[in-house]
Amino acid sequence: MTNKPFAGKVALVTGAASGIGRASALAFAQQGAKVVVADVNVSGGEETVRMIVDNGGEAIFVATDVSRAAEVEALVRQTIAQFGRLDVAHNNAAIEGALAPTAAYSEEDWDRTINVNLKGTWLCLKYEILHMLQQGGGAIVNTASVVGLVGTIGLPAYCAAKGGVVQLTKAAALEYAKAGIRINAVCPGATHTPMLNRLMVQPGAETGMLATIPLGRIGNPEEIAAAVVWLCSDAASYVTGHIMVVDGGMIA
Ligand code: NAI
Repeated sequence: MTNKPFAGKVALVTGAASGIGRASALAFAQQGAKVVVADVNVSGGEETVRMIVDNGGEAIFVATDVSRAAEVEALVRQTIAQFGRLDVAHNNAAIEGALAPTAAYSEEDWDRTINVNLKGTWLCLKYEILHMLQQGGGAIVNTASVVGLVGTIGLPAYCAAKGGVVQLTKAAALEYAKAGIRINAVCPGATHTPMLNRLMVQPGAETGMLATIPLGRIGNPEEIAAAVVWLCSDAASYVTGHIMVVDGGMIA
């Protein structure tokens, strides 16, 4: 017998080849879940699976572009084929998109960012919910961002997509509460990941960022994963439609 809270459960994490998604996949595995690692990055996804297996856990990698409906549908199908069920999902894959102000943004960059970050989150919700309805319940967390709640400069499509993820989370939570599916979001603040490294290339960027964070430091992916795992756990059984900010006080 095991007393791990996610023993016997199956967790699906998108964007799990890197950063916050990898930390979440590892955290679910540590708590006893079988984990489906989904990402466009094959080598990174396989590395996450190796890390889980090396720690005594169980995981598979499914190469998936979340912006493509057929691939997301196949991801959920493969999850069920491999593990027989889907209990929790962390829809986390995203790109930062181009760095440019609104009037300079290209249509191509706009479409790509919205497609991955907003449409991709909706597609994941859609196919996960279709399965959870048959199964009789589940818990889902979407990764939004503090910039889905407040503005920032130079990331208009990213901000719009993340604001969309916040509202999509609330709408879906209302729709599926009676079906026993809880749907919440996390809004990370600045978190040490490859994405943040790509965004903080200008000299002094980190110092400027730190000045906006009351706790005085950038967060770690594990600190975001802890919130995701809690929201998916039975300890959060009365929590749905909640937007949990994990940002060191940045937008308090
Ligand atoms: P990351 O770049 O380290 O990881 C993102 C992962 O998503 C990568 O493995 C990438 O290959 C994958 N991905 C990208 N496009 C994909 C697609 N079309 N289909 C499947 N997978 C795809 O970034 P990080 O920081 O770990 O980001 C995770 C989530 O956290 C994202 O939703 C991001 O917007 C959000 N976030 C991150 C913050 C930060 O400071 N790092 C702050 C606020 C939100």
